[in-house]
Amino acid sequence: MEIKYISPRQVYEKLTMEKCIGLMKGVFMAFAQDKAQNRLRSVLPVDSGKLMGIMPSLLEDRGAVGAKLITVFHENYKKGLPSHQGVVAVFSTEDGSLKGLCDGSAITAVRTGAVSAVATDILADRQASSLCLMGGGVQADMHLRRMKAVRDIKSVTVWCPTMEESRAFIERNEKNYPDITFTPCREGRQAAENADIICTVTASHTPVLLGDWVKKGAHINAVGACAAKDRELDSACVAASRFFCDSFNSCRAESGDYLIPLSEGVIGDDHVVCDMARLVSGKCKGRQTAEDITVFEALGLAAEDLACAHWLLEN
Ligand SMILES: NC(=O)c1ccc[n+]([C@@H]2O[C@H](COP(=O)([O-])OP(=O)(O)OC[C@H]3O[C@@H](n4cnc5c(N)ncnc54)[C@H](O)[C@@H]3O)[C@@H](O)[C@H]2O)c1
Repeated sequence: MEIKYISPRQVYEKLTMEKCIGLMKGVFMAFAQDKAQNRLRSVLPVDSGKLMGIMPSLLEDRGAVGAKLITVFHENYKKGLPSHQGVVAVFSTEDGSLKGLCDGSAITAVRTGAVSAVATDILADRQASSLCLMGGGVQADMHLRRMKAVRDIKSVTVWCPTMEESRAFIERNEKNYPDITFTPCREGRQAAENADIICTVTASHTPVLLGDWVKKGAHINAVGACAAKDRELDSACVAASRFFCDSFNSCRAESGDYLIPLSEGVIGDDHVVCDMARLVSGKCKGRQTAEDITVFEALGLAAEDLACAHWLLEN
């Protein structure tokens, strides 16, 4: 049997930003209509900082069922390799046949920023123009592009563990955005304190963003921490926010940003306002006042990967 395979290059070429944002909205609408199912990722630790994840899901309206198989090796950037590597396998719900495989590294890279763009477009102030990126890896690149697509970003502050990395990020990206002013920051506070939108896209296990630093009215995409013991936001930041997530089930199982302040008694179990299905379908209100600090907690859903892979294999 010959297996159809979509390479990283094909993913980046075909899965344009507009296309992917549209696909992600479609996934959340499918959840709102009970036409999608998602299972929590099953995680097998390989070694310190290394894991293997399996993420199954079903998209009934597309006749697709499948799973992403992905390794996450956080130290890979030191070798010039992506932290996430794998495949998304798509099967037919009609006869169970394998429709094909798509590169999982590229799909993860592209869809994660697209989901944040959907959340930001709903939650962030319409006039938001300053962006803070905490982290300077693949997702920082993607989030810069995606935030620029949904808001007129004029200035970007960048905080990474080293100034060298912040400067390398800026050098890599600034030629594509001549109308944006980029500033590398030695301290997280300096990067975050005047930002309208903050994206935390680090592999940190402990908070990189403190509530004290966040101005009223800001929107935060918390993307990097995807395990119950890990977090990027401190408890004060979460407590001060109107808090949204991609999926309730994922949030309750995988979100240290939510579970740690919950265990401390700083927030209650009603702190999550709603998930993306309710937000995208308009069943729940996002920002209520100009002063609200909104957080979108992204754990990453198998259905997002499957929707991208299914579309790539069909088109
Ligand atoms: N929520 C989702 O759907 C989703 C999807 C993809 C990736 N992620 C997560 O987002 C994070 C970034 O992914 P990426 O692909 O950009 O990875 P990457 O390896 O390209 O970049 C990682 C970044 O985190 C920084 N970092 C590493 N350790 C740190 C620490 N202790 N404190 C502060 N910063 C630290 C690195 O310097 C680098 O800037 C990872 O944790 C990844 O698992 C989440």
